[in-house]
Amino acid sequence: MPHLKVTPFDTSIIEQQIATSEMMTFCAKALNRHDMLIGVEHAGEEFLLQLKPDEKAYLLKYDKVSRPLKVNLLKEALESVSRELDLEVLSSNIAISNTKTALSSEYFKKIEDFENITYPKEKISVEVGFGSGRHLLYQAKKNLDTLFIGIEIHTPSAQQVLKQIELQGLENIWVVNYDARLFLEMLPSNVCEQIFVHFPVPWDKKPQRRVISPSFMEESMRVLRKGGRLELRTDSDKYFWYALETFFSVPKVEVEIRKNEALEVTSKYEARWLRQEKDIYDVYVKCTLESAPKEVTIDFNFNDVKYSKGIEDRLPQKALVFVGYFIHFERIYKISDRSLLIKCAFGSFDRPEHKYILLEEDSCRYFVSSPVKTTVNFQAHQKLAEQIMLTKGE
Ligand SMILES: C[S@@+](CC[C@H](N)C(=O)[O-])C[C@H]1O[C@@H](n2cnc3c(N)ncnc32)[C@H](O)[C@@H]1O
Repeated sequence: MPHLKVTPFDTSIIEQQIATSEMMTFCAKALNRHDMLIGVEHAGEEFLLQLKPDEKAYLLKYDKVSRPLKVNLLKEALESVSRELDLEVLSSNIAISNTKTALSSEYFKKIEDFENITYPKEKISVEVGFGSGRHLLYQAKKNLDTLFIGIEIHTPSAQQVLKQIELQGLENIWVVNYDARLFLEMLPSNVCEQIFVHFPVPWDKKPQRRVISPSFMEESMRVLRKGGRLELRTDSDKYFWYALETFFSVPKVEVEIRKNEALEVTSKYEARWLRQEKDIYDVYVKCTLESAPKEVTIDFNFNDVKYSKGIEDRLPQKALVFVGYFIHFERIYKISDRSLLIKCAFGSFDRPEHKYILLEEDSCRYFVSSPVKTTVNFQAHQKLAEQIMLTKGE
């Protein structure tokens, strides 16, 4: 990622420069630490640069939480800021290029894209944890009338499959690099033909990380159309029994079990288990009911939340844990006597959101974008707002 190392300088020049700057909008100093954040507006996007002072050199770099998708915007902002501040560059890794990141394909979808998306096909199937993507690619080739949404938490696997999609000229796959347990919430009700869960990680020691769970089943049954089915394939005896128990806890479903069924396509994992002559179980869970449409009532506005004097000293420093989610005011940056930038982590334990909250005298908002519209994020958002209001001074 682009960064510059510059000779130490008097950082008060940043504030002086902001009024006439092309890009810089504010400067926020960390409380009890030496680093700072510089607000930048460039090519219609808002983001932050981080300045980390050290004895020998100051590091000017990107900020992970607010980083724009296009790396070139970052590079241009770093160059412009160092020029405006007349910094002496000691070393730099900036070379403006037109190379796209592998995850920028038109078949790569971000989780937030699903807040307002048009599905190009009437039929939709989902594959959870597609790994090498053999099964996903095979299904997409065979069923051109269906959109296959592949969800994979491991970024290199997502990148590999995106490459294959381009190479094989497929147009009916979307790749989502996210946690499948949170993804299903983004889909409308009654739209899916199939949900494939092939060889999920058994997580015997950390069962709370398993993909299959009562809440995953509830969401699966909501998004499957009546007659659609969830297909689990596993080589783990323990997972098989655990999944069966979970499936039977769903009020009304049809469950079918097969053992050592040969499928038309064998995944890498499967090939390994077959060589070892391990048993493989298939469990099909058919959805028998139509679900109510999903109502989205999630609103990430902070409404009446405002800066109050001394709030920076009163916000809880430790994470607050609730059932299924948490909130943590991780770091506070002071912009002026009446405005703060608060770095927060919140939401689900396995896939937390990281955001900044810009708290000013007359307003409060997420900087630069709102969290993904999931139920846990909304619950966490309400707690964040509540905590900021609770800690209001006299
Ligand atoms: C054992 S591999 C199986 C891969 C593939 N389905 C196959 O049959 O070869 C499990 C895959 O699930 C992915 N995975 C694990 N947890 C996940 C989650 N919560 N959401 C999405 N993918 C997940 C892993 O990164 C891994 O690629």
